[in-house]
Parts: sequence; structure tokens; C-alpha cells
Amino acid sequence: MDYLRIQGPTKLSGTVTISGAKNAALPLITLALLAHNPLKITNMPEVADIKTLLKLLQNLGASCTLQNHVLNVDTSTVNHTMANYDIVKTMRASILVLGPLLARFGHCEVSLPGGCAIGQRPIDLHLKALEQMGAQITIHAGYVHALAPEGLKGAHIIFDKITVTGTANIVMAAALAHGKTVLVNCAKEPEVVQLCEILRDSGIDITGIGTSELTIIGTGGKTIDMVDFEVIPDRIEAGTYLCAGAITNSTITLERVRPDHLDAVTAKLEQMGCRVECGETTMTIHPAERLKHVDIITQEYPAFPTDMQAQFMALATLSSGTSIIEERLFENRFMHVSELQRLGADIKLNGHTAMVTGGSPLFGADVMATDLRASSALVLAAMTAEGTTNVHRIYHLDRGYENLEQKLQALGASIERLKE
Ligand code: EPZ
Repeated sequence: MDYLRIQGPTKLSGTVTISGAKNAALPLITLALLAHNPLKITNMPEVADIKTLLKLLQNLGASCTLQNHVLNVDTSTVNHTMANYDIVKTMRASILVLGPLLARFGHCEVSLPGGCAIGQRPIDLHLKALEQMGAQITIHAGYVHALAPEGLKGAHIIFDKITVTGTANIVMAAALAHGKTVLVNCAKEPEVVQLCEILRDSGIDITGIGTSELTIIGTGGKTIDMVDFEVIPDRIEAGTYLCAGAITNSTITLERVRPDHLDAVTAKLEQMGCRVECGETTMTIHPAERLKHVDIITQEYPAFPTDMQAQFMALATLSSGTSIIEERLFENRFMHVSELQRLGADIKLNGHTAMVTGGSPLFGADVMATDLRASSALVLAAMTAEGTTNVHRIYHLDRGYENLEQKLQALGASIERLKE
């Protein structure tokens, strides 16, 4: 198993190029299941989660080649409809094949993803919506068995909660359903918006893109002549590098970003005293003279993202005063707290709220990554801690950050990948 060794404190400078968004790319890969033509998708991040999903598509019979961030995918040869446990257990986003497979083939069997490190993460809203579209769903032996032999029917669906992959799954199902589907209380994340835009550009009648209500007229089971496209930049990777600048008191520039996707993150950095300068596709972080404390509540887009909560917690350990960080999306997304405490951070947890009192000096230690974003928070903290930090279990990090140590090395960090 690999781990990262980081020497702190460190100063960064220069420019970093942001990769394509993992969380946009995952549903976009499963979107290819609705296409009858081969597709070329550019700016594909080469991270473990993407490779896992491609393996799943290949198991279904698709042909996929990923080279130099270009994915060529052809699903016309898909002849299996079972997403088995071995793959789904390693990556929850595999559930994104459910809507497309059912809509295209009228049946599928997808392993239940189960809980994960950040919370229970049920898929009840995906299943309920598909039932409203006429699917018969049964759970047997750990698998969701979904049947809609006559095809899915358009329906009026109100999501009880805003769900990102739930919205994506049902949008894809609705695109091939018979008739009109209205989805209310949808996720408005840029990743969902891009999925809808590609469907629209491929000729699907879809309105309300970027709002919480989407209306989709399905093709009645016919697969789609889909356009080629480029994956949007990863706003969470970008936010993580902005935090890297802020935490190391360094000016760095990010290239290939969408600054408008990061408004809530930028606002919090500015409240902390940093200055963020935005170009059309660039962002430069100028660090604060003295970091101020900040209060954060994680919510759905366009509010502050849960995927940036851990990184801001690392940042708050350096600020003056006490920051209050409330996690509203996931019930267990504070696993990084005890690891940050190992580095010397003063953090008190009370249910879904963390109180971070900044200013205690951080010292390098051995710490353990517990999930993807928690891992990057530990790397950030390690770059400001005095001495050597070893971040173990970085396979979490490899799931979603492309070449993290190379990108940080190029900015001047002392970070290396070693074997346990
Ligand atoms: C997506 O997860 C992201 N993953 C997550 O990114 C991100 O943290 C999350 O959205 C929130 O922004 C991908 O895009 C692949 P949800 P998702 O369904 O779609 C509850 C990362 O680090 N819920 O929007 O699984 C759920 O438990 C990851 O890159 C139900 O109750 O999240 C949660 O409390 C981690 N029933 C809330 O809704 C359901 O059927 C939001 O979850 C579905 C969700």
C-alpha cells in the first residue's frame, strides 16, 4: 500500500492545471449507455474511480479506451445487464448504471452499494422514482432487480431530498422513457447541469436545466445519437488547490477552471481574508495576512459543498478565533477530525457540528486517510505542520485526485509517494 510523506512547513508558488471533474465524468460515462454511436469524451480525469467505472462498462460488454485524457466508448455491444458486487462495493457511483440500463434494456440487476465511510448513503430515492416510472423493483440477495419490459413511462416525480446521483440516474432514465417526465427538487450541481446539456445538445427535449425542476420528453426506448463533449473542470480539485495556497500562505494560480462553479468556496476564502482573482478560466489565490475564522454550513449547490468541508477544516486550524463547521449532507463526514487532532488541531465535535479553534501549532505525525476529501485535508494540514507527516491509506486519494503529489511537487511542496 502506498503512503505520502510530506515535510512541512512548505511554501508553494506557480501554476497548477485542474483536471476534468470526476463527479461529472462518472454519470457522463454511464450516459454513453444511452447512445447508439461511439463517443469521444475529452478532459477525462485519469483517476481510480473512472477506471473502476470503465471496468464495469467493459464487463457489461462495452468497449472503452482511455488514453491521454480522451475516452473512446462504444456501448452498442453491451450484452449484459448485471452490475456485480465486486465492482459496486468499491465504488458507490456504479449505481449510475441503474437508470440507463433499465431504460435501454427493460431490465437490469445492480448490486446494492451499501454504506460507506461518510454515511449510510441509501438509494431509496433512485428506486422510488423508477417505481413511479413503472419499474418493478425487488431487492434479492443483495441486488436491485429492476424490470420494465414495456419500457419506462414518464411521471411526475418529487424528490424528497436533493440527490445528485439520484437526479442524474432519473434524468438518464427519463431520456429513454415513453412520454414526459417532470422532476421536482432536483440537484443543480454543475455536474448534473452538464449531463442535461449534453442530452439537450444530442436532441433530447429537456427544459429547466440548472433549475430545481426539469422536464424531459423521452424517446420511447430509442437510443440517442449522442454528441462528443469535454468534461467540465473539477471544482472540488480546484477548491482544494485554492486551500493549498491559503494554508501555505502562498500565491498560486489555477488554470483550466470554471470560477463561477466555485462562488461559495471563493466567498468563504475571502471571508477568511484571502483574495481570489478570477479570469475566464483561471483563478489566483492571494493568501490572507492573517487568516480569520469562518462559519460554514454544507449544503447543496450553489451553497457551500460538503466535498470542501474537510479542506476548510484544515484551513480553519490556522485561523484566529473559533470556526463553526456544520455538516448537513452526510451523518458521518467528520472522520478526519481525529486525524487532524493527531497533528495538534484543536477541534471539538458536537453531533453534526465541529468547533475549530485556530492557532494551535501543528506538528507532523502519522495519520490515516479515511475518505477522499478527508485525505486531501490531511495533505493540506501536513504542508503547514512542522516536521514529517506520513499520510497512510492514500488509495482514497487516488480515487479522485489526479497526480496530486506531482502537481504539489511542481508547486514546490516536499511530498513523495512511498510503499508501506
Ligand atoms: C454526490 O454523491 C457526490 N458523488 C459526492 O461526492 C458528494 O459528496 C455528494 O453528491 C453531495 O454533493 C458523486 O457525484 C459520484 P446525494 P451522492 O445523493 O449523489 C441522501 C466525493 O468526495 N440520499 O446527493 O451519492 C444521502 O444519504 C463524493 O467526490 C438519500 O437519503 O450524494 C445524503 O444525505 C463523496 N436517499 C443526501 O441525500 C437517496 O436515495 C445527498 O446525497 C439518495 C441520497
